[in-house]
Amino acid sequence: MQYLEMRAADDMHLHLRQGAQLVAYARDAARSFARGLVMPNTLPPLASPESVRAYGRQIEEAAPGFTPLLTFKILPHMDAGLVRSLKEAGAVAGKLYPEGVTTHAEDGVRDVEGLFPVFEAMAEEGLVLCIHAESPGAPVLEREAAFHETFLRIHHAVPSLRIVFEHVSDARTVALIRTLPPDKVAGTITLHHLLFTLDDLLGGRLNPHLFCKPVVKTSADRDALREAAFSGDPHFFFGSDSAPHPREKKEREGAAGCYTAPYALEALASLFEAHGVLGVLEGFVSERGARFYGLLLNEERVVLRKEEWVVPAEYHGVVPACAGMRLGWRVVEKGR
Ligand code: DOR
Ligand code: ZN
Repeated sequence: MQYLEMRAADDMHLHLRQGAQLVAYARDAARSFARGLVMPNTLPPLASPESVRAYGRQIEEAAPGFTPLLTFKILPHMDAGLVRSLKEAGAVAGKLYPEGVTTHAEDGVRDVEGLFPVFEAMAEEGLVLCIHAESPGAPVLEREAAFHETFLRIHHAVPSLRIVFEHVSDARTVALIRTLPPDKVAGTITLHHLLFTLDDLLGGRLNPHLFCKPVVKTSADRDALREAAFSGDPHFFFGSDSAPHPREKKEREGAAGCYTAPYALEALASLFEAHGVLGVLEGFVSERGARFYGLLLNEERVVLRKEEWVVPAEYHGVVPACAGMRLGWRVVEKGR
């Protein structure tokens, strides 16, 4: 048997939802990950100190041994005082969704400049700004690139603020991020954007379980993301954007989101190994995200065993993006 042991991993962009399903989703993530930056686009959104605190407690109860890194949703009416109390409640980041850009973003932001005082306060408090960086009105394949100008405006207006360009999907964004200071600007990369292209989504039969925002793009985009993830560049680290929706929501209503948390680490190990870069996996999943956020690295370890297995067709009513995929590694231990 061959084993791979490394520092336990962080998922720096994770949706655990609210209500009854939260327990199952949190345990799925906790099987492989020590910590997860949990997204605030729940219903209702996490936008008050009380709701952020309560959400953290719920996750800790649901999945002992898993540490939620808490975020709040940036809503148009927010002010600097609220930012300070959210920080006191334990938040490490605030998430900006342009209005209407994705799932549960109807209450998102239209006037980004109006929020500059909020961004200033976040920088002063040492909070990270996470951005769903797409321009809602632009054509779908241009949506991310169309946001670059706004992204740079925020970065230049508040240069001391740490900003994460979430779920990078476009080769032009990889190039942009590389030009910016790595202690201030980073990008998360998901498993599904490393694996899939538009051809997988809609080249044959439509596969709604690969539909997400931003949409997966061309093989050139995917290859630029792979290069960024494999290169060890401190600008890029793992955030799954694992976003479960019940099967019916995906198949009947076309909801956006790929479910990957239960097997993401194993699929990453398989992908990195296939490209001869298994040695850089630990930096991507366990070090660079924590360093950018100024967090201590996990002391805990995770052990994977070389073993073939197939991603199941369903996890508690949710179809995983990689259903039926053969993987080469299995998590056998997380702890210590
Ligand atoms: O595909 C997505 N699903 N993209 C997002 O930005 C949000 C997520 C969700 O919450 O379902
Ligand atoms: Zn997300």
